[in-house]
Amino acid sequence: MPDSICKLVLIAGARPNFMKVAPLIHAIRRHNNDRPADSPTIDFWLVHTGQHYDAAMSEVFFRELGIPAPDVNLEVGSGSQAVQTANVMLRFEPVCLEYRPDWVVVVGDVNSTVACALVAAKLGIKVAHVEAGLRSFDRTMPEEINRLVTDAISDLLLTPSEDANENLRREGVSESKIKLVGNIMIDSLVANLEQARRSPILSNLGIEPGKFVYVTLHRPANVDDRETLETIVKELARVAEKMPILFPVHPRTRQRITAFGFDPMLNDKIRLLKPLGYHDSLHLTENARLVLTDSGGLQEESTYFRTPCLTLRPNTERPVTCTVGTNRLTSAGRLWIHIQEHLSASLCGRHVPPYWDGATAPRVIGELLAHS
Ligand code: UD1
Repeated sequence: MPDSICKLVLIAGARPNFMKVAPLIHAIRRHNNDRPADSPTIDFWLVHTGQHYDAAMSEVFFRELGIPAPDVNLEVGSGSQAVQTANVMLRFEPVCLEYRPDWVVVVGDVNSTVACALVAAKLGIKVAHVEAGLRSFDRTMPEEINRLVTDAISDLLLTPSEDANENLRREGVSESKIKLVGNIMIDSLVANLEQARRSPILSNLGIEPGKFVYVTLHRPANVDDRETLETIVKELARVAEKMPILFPVHPRTRQRITAFGFDPMLNDKIRLLKPLGYHDSLHLTENARLVLTDSGGLQEESTYFRTPCLTLRPNTERPVTCTVGTNRLTSAGRLWIHIQEHLSASLCGRHVPPYWDGATAPRVIGELLAHS
């Protein structure tokens, strides 16, 4: 009798997806090599939607994380929220019809996540959402809409932390669909730690470990509004008087800085860098005196490294990074005072949340097989 086969489509679209998909691929390969005779072989197609397409936003992560070339690239590129989401849907449907997977596995909360989940659900293909249940309770964020819709139509909700389980229960999701598997980002972090520690980025820049602020900003709420971005830029210039700032600039932020004419204000004081690869970014996160960010992933990575982190947002869908980890929310107007406070606060008692242990991907695979 032929072996049974479980067919998956894995979706990766934008930068933060790649470190969530890589551990799944490595875990599938280990499963296929070591599986007991009665356990199915897992076959998969990796679909890159092309939401992020620049080499620095995509290719570098494939290389560093050992992700194979995608089986399919939908090449959707940029566009408004509706255009990007719709283009992914249009181009993903024929892929599902051709491959006929048992599961479509989506990760995170980007437009590609919700678009592919919608296509699969409407074709009657089961959807598993890795990083389910996170809520900022702020529907002005496109990601919050993506999270709500994806979770509402997923068959298996694989969560990173207990607060996510509680959010889903509150929304009436059946307990049988919710599985706490842990934080898949941390699988990639743990697997890449040695290489990250060998990154030459700080020595190349002539900056000492522990003596710089690592800044990343890309959320529309921070960078699309001229006044808000101007306040942030002025505050950063003030901070840079005291400590060097390393600021790799996301393409969205780059466009806004130039359009608003802020280049001269920044160039004098702050080390503006091109978007970084994964190893360099982890190296800066581990060695920074402080991380200042609006990224979801950096909130988690700084909690893992116990690096103080200030998040430039009024809310976070990752509250555990504040209650248990080293994160604190801030705003442009209170940046200076919060930096002083956060740097002098004790980090004793801050720790890494349960199941952020580098072994989430095998738990995901186990749940997929158990629910097949
Ligand atoms: C997207 C995600 C966000 C995630 C972020 C990480 C959504 C709604 N947003 O936001 O959750 O935190 O990715 O980076 O899915 N661009 C390039 N090259 C690229 C990609 C984008 O130049 O490879 C430029 C384009 O001009 C584009 C802009 O950056 O219009 C924004 O890209 P987009 O994917 O629309 O949103 P992000 O802000 O990157």
